[in-house]
Amino acid sequence: MGELTPETITDAVLDQMAMTPDPRMREVMASAVKHLHAFAREVNLTPAEWIKGIEFMTAVGKICTPARQECILLSDTLGLSALVNGLHDNTAVEEGTHTSLLGPFYREASPSLSAGSHIARTVKPGSECVLYGRVSDVNGKPLANATVSIWQTGADGLYDIQENAASTDYRGVFTTDADGVYVLRTVKPIGYSIPMDGPVGAMVRAQGRHGMRPAHIHFLVGAPGYRELVTALYLRDDPYIADDVVFGPSGDLAVEIETNDPSCPIKGLPSIRFDMRLSREGAADKTSGRVGSDPAAILKPTARTGQSPASAAG
Ligand SMILES: [Fe+2]
Repeated sequence: MGELTPETITDAVLDQMAMTPDPRMREVMASAVKHLHAFAREVNLTPAEWIKGIEFMTAVGKICTPARQECILLSDTLGLSALVNGLHDNTAVEEGTHTSLLGPFYREASPSLSAGSHIARTVKPGSECVLYGRVSDVNGKPLANATVSIWQTGADGLYDIQENAASTDYRGVFTTDADGVYVLRTVKPIGYSIPMDGPVGAMVRAQGRHGMRPAHIHFLVGAPGYRELVTALYLRDDPYIADDVVFGPSGDLAVEIETNDPSCPIKGLPSIRFDMRLSREGAADKTSGRVGSDPAAILKPTARTGQSPASAAG
């Protein structure tokens, strides 16, 4: 047995893991170990820093509940979620609307609502607006009966599950009509701070970052034969559009609030139009492409299996 040194330890670990039967697990873990060791060598990681990292990861796990997913928040604030979303987009057979963060506030159990319904129980004067758009394939062919799940914060910048894990508000599931159109009433989205009272918030503060997200509304769209789309619209004029703490916006997701859009199906209110194009399903869509999940589903005894949205979580 050779002597283990900072220079030889990586190969020793890789040798021991080389018999991993699952080839993808072998590949991913070998790369993770190589980069983790390279990182420790590059910064000459000290024992005190190592234990600080262990304490941090312990705190991230401990604060997670069925309504709060600090691990996803950590991934989001490190840009890993946005990176994985981008890599996922690269595997689509066609270029549709870009993916954006699912975030930590998606909820499987959302009410199915008819076209034109309001998703907000509380509407402050002047905050109401119409949200509509067309779901199509990448060539513009409308997709009828597509499922459009929508969730956003209320006027206080909080999601329903942050205020009360048992209540449902500012979210709903709609179905597109024969022209691929979905339409609903809601409130204008506002920018908000990510939860700053946990270990991820402490990290963000220590880095001198503001912790803000630009105003946005989340979407999860599905249609048979097409790749599921997890995305969000962002208000173009939001002051945090260029430095979102979780790196969500990209060019095709920025929209504006219109005051008199003649094509809006509901008149008399400000409106947001957000059209989405879905790629046809391909080989990469055999497993879920969601970067995230319902926090409650992550804590269920049966772990996620990478199955389709109908049978798994998001
Ligand atoms: Fe959000």
